[in-house]
Amino acid sequence: EMFLTENRYTLTITGAGTAAMECAIDNLCEPGDTVVCCVHGFFGDRMRQMYERAKVDLHLVTAPWGEPIDPENLKKTLDSLDKVDLVSVVHGETSTGVVQDVKTLAEVVKPSGALLLVDTVASMGGVEFRTDEWGVDVVYTGSQKCLSAPPGLSPITFSDRAVEKIKNRKTPPKSWYLDLMLNWKYWDDNPGYHHTGSIQTMYALHEALNLLQEEGLENRWARTKETAELLYQKLENLGFKMLVAPEHRLPTLTTAILPEGVDEAPMRKKLLTQYNIEVAGGLGDLAGKAWRVGLMGHSCRKESVHELHRVLSELLKGVTV
Ligand SMILES: Cc1ncc(COP(=O)(O)O)c(C=O)c1O
Repeated sequence: EMFLTENRYTLTITGAGTAAMECAIDNLCEPGDTVVCCVHGFFGDRMRQMYERAKVDLHLVTAPWGEPIDPENLKKTLDSLDKVDLVSVVHGETSTGVVQDVKTLAEVVKPSGALLLVDTVASMGGVEFRTDEWGVDVVYTGSQKCLSAPPGLSPITFSDRAVEKIKNRKTPPKSWYLDLMLNWKYWDDNPGYHHTGSIQTMYALHEALNLLQEEGLENRWARTKETAELLYQKLENLGFKMLVAPEHRLPTLTTAILPEGVDEAPMRKKLLTQYNIEVAGGLGDLAGKAWRVGLMGHSCRKESVHELHRVLSELLKGVTV
């Protein structure tokens, strides 16, 4: 229900979000396959690194940090290739705070016949995502982000088309642990042993999904969006500038450029040590210049935004120029 899919092959991988990323790539790719990897931040680049290890014929479509992938650029790349086996993209780029319009990208991918793989580690359960309706073949997420369960489990779903490709592989996936068909034994109607599951985390994830169901998926999306809008307004009042254009902002992760004159790392440390509020620093070119503020699952509350605003108003007094 969270993925909005009827896919039979919907399971959780025992491991962090990166394990699900590796599971998807290792099972879907064989050496020599043609893959188009969209990269517009840190996690798209992590996928690129995995494809390089998988020895596929790799083509990149990139966008500057802070911007989404342009569907026209993807189309041009797809049109230039004879056949494409797989296209991948990150839905919510945690490094930049950009949300990708996956519905439009899926329409661009469809005529090529390629499978579409999407990373929703930072967005599933917090931002609208419709696996079947949009025609996405493989989607994974992590237990610890918008579901607010402990880390260590990664829900993933595979379309029939994707399973078909995996069943017709000429060689088994490199990883025995992440082999989909072996993992499936654990989830099939008559479960058998494959590896030791993380049972306590499974109970926690089950409860997190119950909470999501009680609140309602669409209500959760709406709560996240409203809370994010309040955050933009409050931060802008304090002199922060939003990195991402309003239409491309990822509600679960906001990248805000600090007002001039603020020493970002010591300020962040004060927030954590004195007020128990944790915000992340900027990555790559944004290091030292921007903060990344998460609004995911349980922590996505207007009270938290008001508290951050109150504390920052105090701390920034007399500091900004
Ligand atoms: C978009 C995205 N993909 C993948 C990952 C990797 O997840 P994990 O750290 O659980 O391995 C993260 C983690 O922050 C992420 O934000």
